[in-house]
Amino acid sequence: MSPQPRAVSDPVSAGRLAAPARPLGVVTRGTTSPNRLRRVDNWIVASCGDRLRASVDPLVVDLGYGATPVTAVELRARLAARVRRDVRVVGLEIDPVRVAAAAPAADPPRLAFARGGFELAGLRPALVRAFNVLRQYDESEVADAWRTVADRLAPGGALVEGTCDELGRIGSWVLVDAGGPRTLTLAARLSSLESPADLAERLPKALIHRNVPGERIHDLIRALDDAWRAAAGYAPFGPRQRWVQAVRAVRDAGWPVHGRPQHWRQGYLTVPWPVVTPASTDPHAPRG
Ligand SMILES: C[S@@+](CC[C@H](N)C(=O)[O-])C[C@H]1O[C@@H](n2cnc3c(N)ncnc32)[C@H](O)[C@@H]1O
Repeated sequence: MSPQPRAVSDPVSAGRLAAPARPLGVVTRGTTSPNRLRRVDNWIVASCGDRLRASVDPLVVDLGYGATPVTAVELRARLAARVRRDVRVVGLEIDPVRVAAAAPAADPPRLAFARGGFELAGLRPALVRAFNVLRQYDESEVADAWRTVADRLAPGGALVEGTCDELGRIGSWVLVDAGGPRTLTLAARLSSLESPADLAERLPKALIHRNVPGERIHDLIRALDDAWRAAAGYAPFGPRQRWVQAVRAVRDAGWPVHGRPQHWRQGYLTVPWPVVTPASTDPHAPRG
């Protein structure tokens, strides 16, 4: 028998959520599209699946799902098929018009939609995916947003916060937990990747203004780009072989790359957050 959803202060099980007095954040553009977040979802399955399997309450929040709820619907389907059938996803949007528009897609208690912001509408999820949400905020607001969400996670929970292009071909994200940011992942659809330097345009808000000399993220992207070009001889064996070779070269150059080739060949490169932490809190400050 699958575990029952918790009833405690959990109106999601009833298919509705009380609107919080004042959701934290601001309404931004709602651009989204089907399959845009497939790459991060696959990574969540592989890298956060155990966390979700171990959670007492498999509640996941899709924060800022946008103009249509399609990526929340997809997230629920992927997690239910590959991690836990009893997973529940709540799409939270700060824009009430988008909450109303999502209502026909609700399937409580498996999938619900509600108004909410960084305070998570009072929920205590095991996992939060917030994609293309902070992009339109100021860089100075990122740390507070991360902390606000992380403080509301269930024990052992995590936030995956990132950015991708319109079709989800390239993107990057930060895994944040109660202890702060843990890892940065760069991701690309290898069959259409021209140059890893393109990832610089789709860095998470915390790093997007840091792709400048003197910053570690700049060094990392350059190292990956150089390694990709040096691995051009592997191109006839396919872009996955080439990417694996490039990631191996980055690791051999001293970057503490996580995982193994099976993981890398999906087009991922994950490093501990401290190796890319911005050099200063002010991107315009002089560097020593
Ligand atoms: C560009 S859309 C992203 C849609 C979807 N996540 C995707 O990646 O395709 C950003 C959405 O985040 C919402 N948003 C912005 N700040 C928010 C916050 N603090 N809490 C909840 N939603 C927020 C906006 O209203 C907007 O609909």
